[in-house]
Amino acid sequence: MSLEVKHLYKSFPSGKNILNGAKFKVEKGSFTFIQGESGAGKTTLFRMLAGLIKPSAGQVWVGGQRLRFDSEYSLMKHRQRLGLVFQDFKLLNHRSVLENISLPLLNVSEKSKLQDRVHKMIDELNLKDAAEQKVSTLSGGQMQRVALARALIHDPDYILADEPTGNLDAKHSEIVIELLHEASQRGKTVMVVSHDNEMIHMFGGEILTLKEGQVENQVYY
Ligand SMILES: Nc1ncnc2c1ncn2[C@@H]1O[C@H](COP(=O)(O)OP(=O)(O)OP(=O)(O)O)[C@@H](O)[C@H]1O
Ligand SMILES: [Mg+2]
Repeated sequence: MSLEVKHLYKSFPSGKNILNGAKFKVEKGSFTFIQGESGAGKTTLFRMLAGLIKPSAGQVWVGGQRLRFDSEYSLMKHRQRLGLVFQDFKLLNHRSVLENISLPLLNVSEKSKLQDRVHKMIDELNLKDAAEQKVSTLSGGQMQRVALARALIHDPDYILADEPTGNLDAKHSEIVIELLHEASQRGKTVMVVSHDNEMIHMFGGEILTLKEGQVENQVYY
């Protein structure tokens, strides 16, 4: 399932073009890093790939089909196949770690299997001791790992992770990137905003750099 943007433009009423004719394509099973200065438009790009905001012009193509920003139904279908790790987490602060991670599974029938998945994910991300705690009582790094767990728990086809290691120490960064990389090896299309070049070199992958509203270069490792 590829992700592609064609001639993508985005401006906000307040100002200049944040995206200015950006184009790129990433293939199914790819592991791609996005870089660019603060304010370059990385989060804005992710929000458009997720169908959360509409481009000013241009197109987003998902698995060879044009994403229809005018259809709530197709946007909803698209979001069900996405795992999103928001830069600011967007967790339910008054709910527990377990509840937050289980949230994307509410509509799924085989509850017992899914509960196993939740517990496995909690183990993998070293969140066992915090499982019953409210999110509001967690450290920043714990919150970040809950956000990743929630994004991966329904095994989505596309994963967009916006600085998922920003609050983590080296050990937990490696766990997080490894989980994302492993998802790409299972055929998921994974894009990660990260400036952690050491980590990028460790796992390999393509780097897209956003500059002046365009995807300037693609470097392969
Ligand atoms: N809803 C909005 N209304 C107006 N301006 C916005 C809006 N969202 C983003 N912007 C502007 O778009 C630009 C790009 O923001 P964006 O959050 O995409 O940057 P970023 O590359 O993710 O930066 P960072 O590395 O700091 O997270 C910024 O100048 C920001 O102020
Ligand atoms: Mg951002």
